[in-house]
Amino acid sequence: MQRLARQWQRAGAPVALVPTMGFLHAGHISLIHRARRTVGRRGRVVVSIYVNPTQFAPTEDLKRYPRDREGDLRQCRAAGADAVFLPSDAEMYPGGFSTYVEEQALSRGMEGASRPAHFRGVTTVVAKLLLLTQPGVAVFGAKDWQQAAVVGRMVRDLNFPVRIVVAETLREGDGLAMSSRNHYLLPAQRAQATVLWRMLEEARRQVRAARQPLSAALLRRRLQALLRQAPEARLDYIEFFQPDTLEPVRRVRRGDHMALAVWIGPTRLIDNATLE
Ligand code: PAF
Repeated sequence: MQRLARQWQRAGAPVALVPTMGFLHAGHISLIHRARRTVGRRGRVVVSIYVNPTQFAPTEDLKRYPRDREGDLRQCRAAGADAVFLPSDAEMYPGGFSTYVEEQALSRGMEGASRPAHFRGVTTVVAKLLLLTQPGVAVFGAKDWQQAAVVGRMVRDLNFPVRIVVAETLREGDGLAMSSRNHYLLPAQRAQATVLWRMLEEARRQVRAARQPLSAALLRRRLQALLRQAPEARLDYIEFFQPDTLEPVRRVRRGDHMALAVWIGPTRLIDNATLE
């Protein structure tokens, strides 16, 4: 992969990376299209597909994470990717692997608080993918807002010569953010999963209607009332924060960001939006 990337660079072709864990859906395809628009027809788009074990805790869904290599390759080809990079665990983490990359501020709250080793795994694998594919641009989805912020900070702090582009979340018709993990939902759970989007919309409505900044604690309580309408839903967190710094806010105003994680039965879903 590195040799190919260097060849492309010598030929003057800009390279864009779309890092994924596979089981691709329309949201991923929109990232591939975004990458193509960024590098143009003469550029090269690489999609990496790798279910990275170091970002899963032992209790999480690594083993059952959905996989569909043939379907993924078909979709990458149809979307116009120039290469698909599918490393193995042994190639990514050879015996004696002992070097990790850790961001120590933006990764602490929200996903980092609920999934303590998660971002160390993400930054380590993304650093490796950037070194292997040598892109000028890497495209991440806004659904993982905190991930994009953590990767952006890592790239800045460690001087990776890459620009991080954050592409809009794609949603189903009823607002549910597209995610490979939606595949786990049984029909009744799928119907309840719209509660995440409804909570984001309600927060937006309340912030717009308020004459002054709203107490985050009060807004959180009001949104929890909505959550109770979905019998299989259990809240992990709701956080209000400044979109760039992820700094939590105690009083919520237009332009602030909200992120939440909710269990629907055994499936943990996340989503976020700017409250505008
Ligand atoms: O967002 C994902 O799919 C993963 O966290 C990523 C960025 C591919 C790293 O494994």
